[in-house]
Amino acid sequence: MKTFKAFWFFSFIVLHVFFVKVDGVKSLVPALYVFGDSSVDAGNNNNLITHAKANIPPYGIDFNNNATGRFTNGKTFADFIAIKLGLPLQPPYLGISKSKRYQVITGINYASGACGILNDSRDGDCLSLDKQIEYFTSTVVNDLPKHKHLKNKYELKDHLSKSIYLISIGSNDYFLNYLKPEIRTYKYMNSEEFADYLIEQLSSKIKAIYNLGARKFVVGTVNQIGCSPNLYCNETINQMVKPCSDKLLMKVKEMEKKFSGSMFVSANGFNFFNKIKNDPKKYGFTNISKSCIQEGIPCANRKEYYFWDFGHITEAAVEIYANECFSGSKICFPNVKKLALVHL
Ligand SMILES: *[C@@H]1O[C@H](CO)[C@@H](O)[C@H](O)[C@H]1NC(C)=O
Ligand SMILES: *[C@@H]1O[C@H](CO)[C@@H](O)[C@H](O)[C@H]1NC(C)=O
Ligand SMILES: *[C@@H]1O[C@H](CO)[C@@H](O)[C@H](O)[C@H]1NC(C)=O
Ligand SMILES: *[C@@H]1O[C@H](CO)[C@@H](O)[C@H](O)[C@H]1NC(C)=O
Repeated sequence: MKTFKAFWFFSFIVLHVFFVKVDGVKSLVPALYVFGDSSVDAGNNNNLITHAKANIPPYGIDFNNNATGRFTNGKTFADFIAIKLGLPLQPPYLGISKSKRYQVITGINYASGACGILNDSRDGDCLSLDKQIEYFTSTVVNDLPKHKHLKNKYELKDHLSKSIYLISIGSNDYFLNYLKPEIRTYKYMNSEEFADYLIEQLSSKIKAIYNLGARKFVVGTVNQIGCSPNLYCNETINQMVKPCSDKLLMKVKEMEKKFSGSMFVSANGFNFFNKIKNDPKKYGFTNISKSCIQEGIPCANRKEYYFWDFGHITEAAVEIYANECFSGSKICFPNVKKLALVHL
């Protein structure tokens, strides 16, 4: 056991030296792998047949004026977390050519807008969470082992167990499924039962990621979607989705116990919006109810708006959320920095 541990430690040093050399920065973890919906999509949907795309202006106006497919004006939650971890931004899986995939060992983004935890939560073509995991499996089995620093199975195991897995998904299971009157599949479930079902499904999919070697997870689900600009802060809807947010907290504790050697951070977007609602000015916001984009034209004072479009939040809001989640104590339990530094 001792020698095994020593070997792990040694291989970590080797990896670390490698990262310092290649990226010029000292990262806290080897990689960040991103799963989810439009809250963290970095451009996968650019390659799919769907109208849920964000690769045209004004999207990306604060991302070097580059509409990369991110559903906001600037960086996403995943981008801010990557930067704080000392990593480059994760490229979208579908944007990397097949022959180059093995070269990317600082993490890949599999997230896809207009998709959900359930496969039937969708609006056109998108990468369901199952599909995202299928692609991640291919990364682990086919691509990573080709990299010269991950050829040895202990190096690969070390890479996977020390990396962070960010999963941000669930709003579309409500928006595009449970709350849609024309879809009747889940009508026999009340909101508690549907939340239980969703969280159970999410947990089984996370188990699949764990089984491939992942140990450090950050999981966020549904936000206060009732407050999206076109819904005029409908509290009935917020109360319908709240059980999903509440249950996640308990579920991650349970998963941590069940999946040996794992650690989980739950990200509570629901509470985050409460904080903003209670005191918008404290965070620099003057408008937390309307979209910054009006008739296709973005507002000039983008740091003062909470919402960027009909449902996605501005970079200013994302940044506050990411700062809190990375090193605060109220939105993410424990915070991501602790997760990054822990030796499991
Ligand atoms: C825009 O973003 C894409 C994808 O990240 C990148 O390949 C391209 O070089 C960027 N273009 C500019 C002008 O920054
Ligand atoms: C997921 O949904 C899509 C679109 O409805 C369908 O084509 C696909 O077969 C489904 N996949 C699974 C595993 O059910
Ligand atoms: C809030 O949403 C519920 C559920 O969709 C709907 O029945 C209700 O009419 C909405 N309330 C308002 C004030 O729009
Ligand atoms: C919020 O923004 C909308 C859209 O630009 C605008 O019509 C509204 O007056 C703003 N509200 C406040 C309180 O500034």
